[in-house]
Amino acid sequence: MTAAPREAVVILDFGSQYSQLIARRVRELEVYCELIPYNAPAAEITRLNPLGFILSGGPASVYAKDAPHLPDFVLTAQRPILGICYGMQLLAYHLGGQVDPGQEREYGPAEITLADLDSPLFAPLSRSRPTLSVWMSHGDRVTRLPAGFHSLAQSENSPHAAIGDPARGLYGLQFHPEVTHTPQGKELLRAFLYRVCGCQGGWTPGNFIEESINQVQAQVGARKVVCGLSGGVDSSVTAALLHRAIGSQLTCIFVNNGLLRKNEPEQVAQTFEKEMHARLVAVDATEDFLSALAGVTDPEAKRKIIGEKFIRIFEAEARQLGQVDFLAQGTLYPDVIESASRSQQIVAAKIKTHHNVGGLPEDMPFELVEPLRYLFKDEVRAVGEALGLPRQMVWRHPFPGPGLAVRVLGEVTWERLETLRAADAILIEELHASGWYEQTAQAFAVLLPVQSVGVMGDYRTYADVIALRAVTTDDFMTADWARLPADLLARLSNRIVNEVPGVNRVVYDISSKPPATIEWE
Ligand code: XMP
Repeated sequence: MTAAPREAVVILDFGSQYSQLIARRVRELEVYCELIPYNAPAAEITRLNPLGFILSGGPASVYAKDAPHLPDFVLTAQRPILGICYGMQLLAYHLGGQVDPGQEREYGPAEITLADLDSPLFAPLSRSRPTLSVWMSHGDRVTRLPAGFHSLAQSENSPHAAIGDPARGLYGLQFHPEVTHTPQGKELLRAFLYRVCGCQGGWTPGNFIEESINQVQAQVGARKVVCGLSGGVDSSVTAALLHRAIGSQLTCIFVNNGLLRKNEPEQVAQTFEKEMHARLVAVDATEDFLSALAGVTDPEAKRKIIGEKFIRIFEAEARQLGQVDFLAQGTLYPDVIESASRSQQIVAAKIKTHHNVGGLPEDMPFELVEPLRYLFKDEVRAVGEALGLPRQMVWRHPFPGPGLAVRVLGEVTWERLETLRAADAILIEELHASGWYEQTAQAFAVLLPVQSVGVMGDYRTYADVIALRAVTTDDFMTADWARLPADLLARLSNRIVNEVPGVNRVVYDISSKPPATIEWE
């Protein structure tokens, strides 16, 4: 299924760690874009009939053997191009300019001096200051411009920190406009999209919902769809959108695996009933999951068992619904980008196997409906709000598919799950009460597989340890630990030790990602 927007811009990915960020910025500017590996087949790009191209940065050097090249169709399309960092070097190189290694790498904040305040890119910025703070991260630099180009800005290390050929709408930036460390970067991207490419904008949740409903109706017709519901934002928005599009042809299946948080199964069912009015089949498979997990302590083994069990139960329930042809999944754009770059072999190392309700096997006899496959998480939330879903559903922190099984370190038993649920509920309640829930991207408790000595009253205790984790992050790829106030941490520790039987110690996790991950398993 392809989203069929009126206008689009294509971002070609040359392997920069910031590529996704470029796409998010463009979407924030209300222009639909797709991030596509530089070596994808031309048809992948031409189907979008892009109004312009953005070439991402990347780790290579244009002269290196096997360096990613600029596909011919980008130049022959005769559309505006913005090259960023490696993208700019590549553009210059392909058009006959010269790129050389710089004396030293330029990494971090830099000041550039604008040489052409009338250029369409820079004209909308404040004219009172001819300098701009930007974020640089490069080794090579452009030393001779291709014919038709002139220099738009310089930095200490780059004689051509920004270049342009206005007649052809070709521009290059040696710095990264997509990162927040380039404060005016978004305005530069806006200028490229609206002034150079001639975009009209209007990529909004409302438009998306309308387009998506039409597409789902066209794909599904009068047939039936089943959707796995977890209570998380992705599956909830998928279900709400599907229900709007096809009403009673949709049935949602909610599997309670016993690994959910305190009162979560009841809340999911209640909220669903109240807000969505779609058909829901709720299955309590707690016993099934816990007996399969008995004695298992290895994190990857737990994930595998839970993933497989889920599939089997889901399949059995779906079969009981009679003839169902479609499976709706809340796949998001970052997953699509990752699997596209995987198939084009721009691959990141695997750290852990992620499983979620979308992780169903390929041999299931269903065609997929994935209405969110071109959206980023923040766009999914905006769509959820536009669909009228309640705030607490739309702004819920993410929760992993394997649930509390990866937060009860060591063996997962009902008793240990109950200990964790009680501690976690206190954390979440206090975060809400103090206003910190919305200031953190994810927060949870972890039950450690060790016991520690304590003293309560006059008695020695030897009891469980709870770790608290709260992080801030934009994209969950990197994260920092949240600087929760000391008095909030003190209250949490006090409440958990006093209210949760069997816990005598609370620790706060102050690791960032990397080198840690967000979850402990
Ligand atoms: P890590 O621990 O890899 O987590 O830093 C990054 C984000 O992914 C979530 N996570 C999962 N989500 N299925 C999911 O749906 C999984 O198996 C899974 N493992 C981790 C984690 O909660 C965090 O938001």
